[in-house]
Amino acid sequence: MTTTGQGLGNVAPGTTVSVEMDGQPVAVANVDGTLYAFDDYCTHRQCLLSEGTLAGTVVSCGCHGSQFDVTTGAVLRGPAKMPLSTFKVEIVDGELRLDIIEKAAEAVEQPASPAVAAAAPAAASPTPAVEAEVALAHVPLFSGLPAVSLQTLQALCFRRTFRPDEVIVEEGRTGNGCYVVVSGRVEVVRGLPDRPQVLATFGPGEPFGEMALLGDWKRTASVVAIEETTCIGIDRWVFLAFLRREPELAVRMLQLVAQRLVDTNQRLSASA
Ligand code: FES
Repeated sequence: MTTTGQGLGNVAPGTTVSVEMDGQPVAVANVDGTLYAFDDYCTHRQCLLSEGTLAGTVVSCGCHGSQFDVTTGAVLRGPAKMPLSTFKVEIVDGELRLDIIEKAAEAVEQPASPAVAAAAPAAASPTPAVEAEVALAHVPLFSGLPAVSLQTLQALCFRRTFRPDEVIVEEGRTGNGCYVVVSGRVEVVRGLPDRPQVLATFGPGEPFGEMALLGDWKRTASVVAIEETTCIGIDRWVFLAFLRREPELAVRMLQLVAQRLVDTNQRLSASA
């Protein structure tokens, strides 16, 4: 589908500007008079590449230094692992037109450091990336998302291991993201430390703290590891940037909020 971008203005050689396509920011770079268009969100943590630097056909993200080839979207340097979407650029009657290019630039394999490679078991099963993707696919909120979206989401997640009895989120503190258990078990507890009341136990594939993805509300309960537990998590600001690109997920999020309201109303009615 061809879509017209707005607000192109002049793109001077050696510079990059941001335009909108279907409500999404797209970066347009002028390399020696040729225009290249690509996703403006860096695939690492969603910083705007149009605010980075352009040198020849290489755009560098100003946040953590990832580099991409603007002609193909391929990753040239991490920490980003996923390639950018790229678009065909046309000027029609002085107006910028963009077409999505059907291509799949391969992500650059990030070489492990010698120390990490030496410590890695000969035949690990399964790899952490697969575990994380599988865990995300089990989260009701994310189920049904296309595999490519899950891969993008997984690339945006952090991963952390907690000791037994370690508090992962604390009741009353402002939440800044959501977690999914990859291995181990956690308890959801209210009233720590004086009058603990266990509300639930979660294991692999189960999420907690999803509401913190939408706003900086206080946590309504603590979550504590009851054995060594590994979780993947995603920060709110990273998730919200991702949400802007995934309208299907935004609808699912609304349904989740509506369901929570219905549940709360039913509980209030039952206790009245
Ligand atoms: S957000 Fe671009 S490198 Fe981290």
